[in-house]
Amino acid sequence: MESKRVVVGVAGGIAAYKACTVVRQLAEAGHSVRVVPTEAALKFVGAATFEALSGQPVHTGVFTNVDEVPHVRIGQEADLVVVAPATADLLARAVSGRADDLLTATLLTARCPVMFAPAMHTEMWFHPATVDNVATLRRRGAVVLEPASGRLTGADSGAGRLPEAEEITTLAGLLLERGDALPHDLSGVKVLVTAGGTREPIDPVRFIGNRSSGKQGYAMARVAAQRGAEVTLIAGNTVGLVDPAGVDVVHIGSASQLKDAVSKHAPEAHVLVMAAAVADFRPTHVATSKIKKSHDPGRTADAPAIELTRTDDVLANTVRARADGLLPNMRAIVGFAAETGDANGDVLFHARAKLQRKACDLLVVNAVGEGRAFEVDSNDGWLLTADGNEAALEHGSKTLMASRIVDAIAAFLGNKNE
Ligand code: CTP
Repeated sequence: MESKRVVVGVAGGIAAYKACTVVRQLAEAGHSVRVVPTEAALKFVGAATFEALSGQPVHTGVFTNVDEVPHVRIGQEADLVVVAPATADLLARAVSGRADDLLTATLLTARCPVMFAPAMHTEMWFHPATVDNVATLRRRGAVVLEPASGRLTGADSGAGRLPEAEEITTLAGLLLERGDALPHDLSGVKVLVTAGGTREPIDPVRFIGNRSSGKQGYAMARVAAQRGAEVTLIAGNTVGLVDPAGVDVVHIGSASQLKDAVSKHAPEAHVLVMAAAVADFRPTHVATSKIKKSHDPGRTADAPAIELTRTDDVLANTVRARADGLLPNMRAIVGFAAETGDANGDVLFHARAKLQRKACDLLVVNAVGEGRAFEVDSNDGWLLTADGNEAALEHGSKTLMASRIVDAIAAFLGNKNE
């Protein structure tokens, strides 16, 4: 991505230390980062740390370098403003349009996307004043992230934790890539996402797995949650991904465990996103103790043959269950297809056939092979809908792709409501 001007605002909360990592990651991504802390933030992290990490001067007030008019210029010139952490006090000041320090002045003059990453105690987060402030900021077009749940400053835990730095940086990158704000348009929508590869046990120490990293499914869960959806993520094997903030994560191993988890959560869900790479076959018999090789080095005849059995097709079964009236809440079912072209036809030819076969509402298609799609951070493909629409998904991060797919899901749900 080309280098952009990013302002990182830091308010005075204990989570200010996580802003250091956000600054570092944005700078490492090649962006020009200007840190604007509040006076209170500097009680938690010193200006020298932010200056060293960003390579730019750090001030809190509007009376430093007045000749350069920083209280207007920093906001005007920014491509993105990220406030992390955004305390209850900072949100209140932003709502009332205060301009009594450099950060609030910057927020008033910025015409680019603005993202707040709140961090505060649960009571403060759920206080009607904060709830109203968040709603006002969102109505004005700002992105206010859902906080994570977990350990807070003291011994208590609950909603209000600052999302992990990596998650903030990823979503900041998404806003830069999209060039517009992320709408908060999925409140009240329950989304069930599956992600990652399944592992089919052979014996207590071995399994048959696949190369899915889970990144696309995690990005789907993250984006849907940040758009206001209530998200449950059923996660198979993944490559050490950060659990998305505000998402309920259920970890599973095999295809049959994934099937059980989907059966359990599908009746509540309005949307199912089947991004997981579910094994099509599993070993018919799972050895209860470790399969041993012969200790006679010359022998190969005792290499075990592993007999395989088809697994259930979770996507097709869910489509069928809905058709049978068993899932009255389910309004959109999204399948994923990883395809290569072959002698019979190209990627889209196979994708169209799969959409027919699976009978889902939307099918996301990735062309795979030659290092594409698996284990990498970027992706492209097509989005096919049951009514015959075929749209290209532009090349970009898996998070950008997720946001385009969620756009399509939101449009699909909207059309159904009309
Ligand atoms: N899927 C599923 N249950 C399975 C296998 C796949 O729900 N046992 C879902 C995947 O999560 C994905 C979609 O089905 O959303 C497509 O998976 P894929 O394995 O590519 O489809 P197949 O019909 O098995 O096609 P292929 O002939 O390419 O194997």
